[in-house]
Amino acid sequence: MITLNIFLVLVIYQCALSDGSKLNLSTEPCDVSDIECISKATQVFLDNTYQGIPEYNIKKLDPITIPSLEKSIEKINLNVRYNNLKVTGFKNQKISHFTLVRDTKAVNFKTKVNFTAEGELVIELPKSSKTYTGEVTIEASAEGGAAYSYSVKTDDKGVEHYEAGPETISCEIFGEPTLSVSSTLEDALKLDSDFKKIFTEYGKQLTEGRKQTACRIVETVYAVSVHNIRAAARILPKSAYFKNV
Ligand SMILES: *[C@@H]1O[C@H](CO)[C@@H](O)[C@H](O)[C@H]1NC(C)=O
Ligand SMILES: *[C@@H]1O[C@H](CO)[C@@H](O)[C@H](O)[C@H]1NC(C)=O
Repeated sequence: MITLNIFLVLVIYQCALSDGSKLNLSTEPCDVSDIECISKATQVFLDNTYQGIPEYNIKKLDPITIPSLEKSIEKINLNVRYNNLKVTGFKNQKISHFTLVRDTKAVNFKTKVNFTAEGELVIELPKSSKTYTGEVTIEASAEGGAAYSYSVKTDDKGVEHYEAGPETISCEIFGEPTLSVSSTLEDALKLDSDFKKIFTEYGKQLTEGRKQTACRIVETVYAVSVHNIRAAARILPKSAYFKNV
């Protein structure tokens, strides 16, 4: 009986793997120029995958934790480190651009996203050996992009699949990201004359640094997005994606 059960579980598991039934792009494949269809399919894909599907090697996208991000601005004697940033919002990213060029086999897409990252902020002033730590929340509005080429591979069952080549990721931040820190950290920084000086003299560089940090977050999450697209392409047949490619 136990053997039979294990056998059945394996059979069901195999079926789930081979037809990709846990992966649901949309009811119909899209025309590559039909951005509305692609936009809907993207939303369905995100809804189906953002929590991750380990058996398909699809990683969790939202929330996603970034263990650490570091930024040192030597000229102004400042190290900024973010630890355990929990990023949310990417399950609601919206397609803003999509092209697939058949001749060159090039794919290029962009999405817009509003995201929040919460974690720990460590500020070091190396010259005066001072360190401040506290909770931080970053909120930003961004457009991320990925460009890659594709090829078509036939699997051992004779089914054609897309295979995505190495990606190039781009990022643009809209406006200025907001960064809020816990009131204890804010109060401590306000009392530090070295930090106050840096804040008044290098406000512009600090804002720029914040945008770069927001882009590092976008790029990190985007790498996971592209990983998931690649993993899904190994499960779903080429015909599930586009009508006219
Ligand atoms: C696929 O997703 C759509 C929209 O979320 C849903 O209506 C449909 O029932 C799903 N199909 C399967 C086989 O899960
Ligand atoms: C991001 O937030 C702005 C302001 O609330 C809103 O207008 C925009 O539609 C949002 N974008 C996305 C992709 O959710």
